[in-house]
Amino acid sequence: MTIQWFPGHMAKAKREVEEQLSLVDLVIELVDARAPYSSQNPMMQDVTSDKQKLIILMKRDMAEERVTQQWLDYFREQGKYALAVDVNQKDDIKQIVKQTKQISEHINERRKEKGINPRSLRAMIIGIPNVGKSTLINRLASKKQAQTGDKPGVTKKQQWIKIQGEFELLDTPGILWPKFEEEEVGYRLAAIGTIKDQILHLDDIAIYILNTMKQYYPDALVKRYSTLNLESDDVVEWFDAIGKQRGCLMSGGVIDYDQVADVIIRDLRQGHLGRVTFDQM
Ligand code: G4P
Repeated sequence: MTIQWFPGHMAKAKREVEEQLSLVDLVIELVDARAPYSSQNPMMQDVTSDKQKLIILMKRDMAEERVTQQWLDYFREQGKYALAVDVNQKDDIKQIVKQTKQISEHINERRKEKGINPRSLRAMIIGIPNVGKSTLINRLASKKQAQTGDKPGVTKKQQWIKIQGEFELLDTPGILWPKFEEEEVGYRLAAIGTIKDQILHLDDIAIYILNTMKQYYPDALVKRYSTLNLESDDVVEWFDAIGKQRGCLMSGGVIDYDQVADVIIRDLRQGHLGRVTFDQM
């Protein structure tokens, strides 16, 4: 795979996030529930190793519930806090505030033991692009939100937002690159729309989606594309069937494979293929 990031940009992003992290007690790392492994940031492990961590599996409404639960168990076994969230569910947002309150109480107990005064928990949200960082910050911050002002060491642009009287959140999320060491990871991130579509070929992404769905969700695939013959392993035959069914034709009735790939990718991202998790346990 030919994905290249400029080391200079990565180092700068890492340094900026490290500076912000030095100001907080809790790191809220957002991952995509459809790919909780692939959407983690590889740099985060060493950058945040000494921080309390809350992993939020975003877009749980688009992922397979059973596998999401397995991932939650896995993260909790590693000693992290973990929640699965659909930002459009008010109860899920309440869960985050409740969980943060518990973490804050634990941290303040430890401060008390060391003779340090308790204070409001400070947190920041980090994650790869498109995972839902801005949406979540907006949902957490109420409309009448008063900003609590600059704190020493915080650059002018950064503000702390008081979240429901429970904790303080940096209003700027930390954006970091996804992992790219494994080819599979690239395809999974492309399928869920994290990597720009130009980086990998659309037909390769579509074939990856079809193969994954054939393995884990064959019924959902045939429900959407009723003429698909999954007995066959011939992807051209699959594209022909989907193209005919969805009218992806060029002049002379020839199947337009680019259009077919586009249909498959859009169907997945819009939820028409059902709940799909790419990172299976
Ligand atoms: P970012 O800051 O991390 O880059 O991500 P952002 O908040 O912009 O969210 C990216 C997309 O993910 C948005 O959709 C947002 O609505 C969607 N999203 C975030 N959380 C959830 C969730 O829990 N469930 C679902 N289903 N979607 C979620 P968009 O299509 O880019 O914009 P829009 O349709 O919301 O306008």
